[in-house]
Amino acid sequence: MKAIENRLKKLRDIIEQHNYNYYILDAPTISDGEYDAIFRDLYALETKHPELIIPTSPTQRVGAEPLIEFGTIEHRVPMLSLSNAMDTEELIVFDERMKKELCIKENILYIAEPKLDGLGIELIYEQGIFIKGSTRGNGFTGEDITRNLKTIRSLPLKLIGGNAPTLLEVRAEVFIKKHDFFKLNKSRESEKIPVFANPRNAAAGSMRQLDTRITIKRPLSFFCYGAGKIEGINFETHHEYLLALKRMGLPVNPLIKTVNGAKGIKAYYHELEKIRNELPYEIDGTVFKVNDYQLQNKLGTRSRSPRWAIAGKFKPQQATTIIHDIVVQVGRTGALTPVARLAPVNVAGVTITNATLHNQDEIDRKDIRIGDTILIERAGDVIPRIVQVILEKRPKESTPYRINTHCPICNQKSFKPNDEVVARCLNISCPAQVKGRIQHFVSKPAMNIDGLGERIIDQLVETGLLKTVDDIFTLEQQALSELDGLGKKSAEKLIQSINKSKRTVFSRFVYALGIRNVGEHIAQVLEKHYNGRLKEFKNAKPEELKNIDEIGPIVAQSVVQFWQNNNNRKIVNNCIERGVFLKEMTKHINQPFSGQIFVFTGSLKNLTRQEIKERVEHLGGKTAVSVSKKTSYLVVGPGAGSKLKKAEDLAVSIISEDEFLDIAH
Ligand code: IVH
Repeated sequence: MKAIENRLKKLRDIIEQHNYNYYILDAPTISDGEYDAIFRDLYALETKHPELIIPTSPTQRVGAEPLIEFGTIEHRVPMLSLSNAMDTEELIVFDERMKKELCIKENILYIAEPKLDGLGIELIYEQGIFIKGSTRGNGFTGEDITRNLKTIRSLPLKLIGGNAPTLLEVRAEVFIKKHDFFKLNKSRESEKIPVFANPRNAAAGSMRQLDTRITIKRPLSFFCYGAGKIEGINFETHHEYLLALKRMGLPVNPLIKTVNGAKGIKAYYHELEKIRNELPYEIDGTVFKVNDYQLQNKLGTRSRSPRWAIAGKFKPQQATTIIHDIVVQVGRTGALTPVARLAPVNVAGVTITNATLHNQDEIDRKDIRIGDTILIERAGDVIPRIVQVILEKRPKESTPYRINTHCPICNQKSFKPNDEVVARCLNISCPAQVKGRIQHFVSKPAMNIDGLGERIIDQLVETGLLKTVDDIFTLEQQALSELDGLGKKSAEKLIQSINKSKRTVFSRFVYALGIRNVGEHIAQVLEKHYNGRLKEFKNAKPEELKNIDEIGPIVAQSVVQFWQNNNNRKIVNNCIERGVFLKEMTKHINQPFSGQIFVFTGSLKNLTRQEIKERVEHLGGKTAVSVSKKTSYLVVGPGAGSKLKKAEDLAVSIISEDEFLDIAH
């Protein structure tokens, strides 16, 4: 028993501390999800041991103490909180409980609402005039924030529609839209003021701001969803009440709707979760309320929350974790990117172990250090980002982090132009760059070579078999099968995959080359313009490039610079000579082989017979199996026999495979 009591005390202390950080300091040190988890732990333990519940336990109260600088307003009807369901299963349990407690067999009608992540407030209207407003505070007493509320443009100071009730206490949530929040933080960053961790803190901070001149500059919005004391008007359902609010000119969330039973609850929860990240404001779940006020009354309330409502929470998109280390990665362009190695943490269902820190500026702006505890966020498919450092948890001995001035891979001095934020390793033979370029070249949207993973590329670069991307087409099965992790079978498959990749299209090949500022889309734009004419593309002048729709001076310059480098030209020529063939090339252009007949003899090193046939045909020519007077060229490889003799006799042009490749693109 003593152990349980100790555990209860510990949980209560932790929660009180977080309440203080959150409500009083407006500076939470843990995410909502983590807070909820601790709260649920305490709640579960108390439910198991009700005899150990004490009146001062955080579970026994609604919120936190109001700030003293504001006047206080007593809520005539307590502002309750909501009990939480963490998933749809718990929501279904809620629906079953409602049916059981009300002794109803048929489906219950609920009002389904988005759960806004902002600050709960109460607005008091007397005879249709806005009199005063307050925060939720501890649920019984809140802070008088009337002056601040009056700065919100969408808040009607007078209700519309004529016959206003004598008294209307409306409960609502004040929030800041995501893009307003983003703008607000940007300006705080430039003024070197600490940024807000999330829109909710920004909204809460703005509302509880003693200086109204600051509040007025904050782009606050609000939606109404609840009622306090009401006189002079009666409603039978929550739905009716919300419609009346709308008629009176108060904003009500347009996504609110009536749903039917557990099925309706589930569908709404999933629907909203799907569009969550597209909404202009943050929501952290859904709320379901029994629609019928009579039924609500029958169900009644607990100390902290009504029995007739529940919040269906979404997985939190923020979490806190620790930075164990910061490593610098070198990309294919030589860019040095600092990456934080994190203690693994689950954010919105995905385990996160790394987070990019982008560059030194970003590290400085957020003052990110090794050993720091950080708040991390992952919204939808967006890569995780560090929101802020939790300074209270910074180890005493920590020092600011500076990216080394030398490349961590080749140790040569890096360079950062004054007008750029990214430092780069300038050594183009730096193994990290070499590996990066190869990885990019073989990647799916580029040459799409299967089986050349990071580990294999590492070995091939380290053994010198791969120095540049064109070397890929000289790889031999024997050498490959001797690598770690590649057996004979996989080596064979890899060779097949390499050969298959040779037949590609202009845009993929151009993208694969990794020309600065030429992404997939620009490569496609270039493909349209050049119709596959690689030669013309190679010799393009900046003016010509700039005249292409969507190509600006930066891309034009990058392309010209790329081709100015003889090494790059050589790599591309080698690729073509080693069999890379751009399928689309012949579609729209002059056909240099038109009217010509090619015959091949002996063994050929780069192309299969089928590939040769296709290439000749694409360029407008034909192939034949035997030499005759009509034959234009005989292409010979080692081991040529009678065909060679006949061609010599008939004075047919005889060329090598390499010479053929020279003219066949
Ligand atoms: S109803 C009687 N509806 O969530 C029930 N609350 O965790 C009182 N909230 O204090 C709340 N959106 O600040 C309700 N559609 C919504 C809400 C909502 C956000 C907030 C509100 C409340 C807290 C409870």
